[in-house]
Amino acid sequence: MRLILIGPPGVGKGTQARRLAEHLGIPQVATGDMLRDHVRKKTKLGQKAQSYMNKGQLVPDDVILAMVEVRLREKDAAGGFILDGFPRTVPQGVGLTVILERLDVTLDIIVAISVNQDMILTRLAARRSCARCGAVYNLVINPPKTIGVCDACGATELILREDDRPETIRKRFDVYQEQTFPLLAYYSPTGLLKEVAGDGTVDEIFQNIQAVLPDKPNRS
Ligand code: AP5
Repeated sequence: MRLILIGPPGVGKGTQARRLAEHLGIPQVATGDMLRDHVRKKTKLGQKAQSYMNKGQLVPDDVILAMVEVRLREKDAAGGFILDGFPRTVPQGVGLTVILERLDVTLDIIVAISVNQDMILTRLAARRSCARCGAVYNLVINPPKTIGVCDACGATELILREDDRPETIRKRFDVYQEQTFPLLAYYSPTGLLKEVAGDGTVDEIFQNIQAVLPDKPNRS
């Protein structure tokens, strides 16, 4: 299965992508997570990306496309993948089409998740991420077992993401409307685009997504 998850900041793409990856046995390819990993490791790419990310702006398309192509060529992505947070602009959508042609594979479905902004703001205010390994928690629905300690790596720095400050979230919403929302019109003629309501519990939304997945994904 080759699937794209599209939706505004904080709508729950990462949460659902992780569940789908486990359920379908294919990797989650999350450009935001990949970029944050580069930032943590202070790579050249991370240093370039950080200033865009902290301001709620998008990292340039050429940087993202090169990073994604390398990832999709890795062995574990040969049988399918879940794209989370990519593509995010029409040029990235066009670039992805070219990458998929080079890999000789096709997309199965594009799931667009939507929810109202107030709910997103509430969810993001409660999100905490591990500064060491990037594991994601939510103080309301998914807190760590021991307050302030990462279940995954034991680090004691569970932080509010720099771009989850209210003024930066607003900027990210604007960027979504201007640069990412037009992708829905780009994908609409493919017939692969399915819209799913993002309100409700994590389980309910997971079921909504499962209900629109194709029974038989494309082989190539
Ligand atoms: P990225 O990390 O992709 O951020 P985003 O798209 O803004 O999405 P988020 O990670 O904030 O949220 P999400 O939708 O995954 O929600 P989550 O599941 O965590 O990108 C960050 C930055 O990197 C960008 O601004 C840009 O600078 C750069 N970047 C990344 N990709 C790029 C690209 N392709 N091109 C250019 N630049 C790029 O859920 C949010 C919270 O809600 C969590 O706490 C979660 O536990 C909770 N939650 C989830 N579902 C529910 C539910 N049903 N009920 C209650 N709480 C819930």
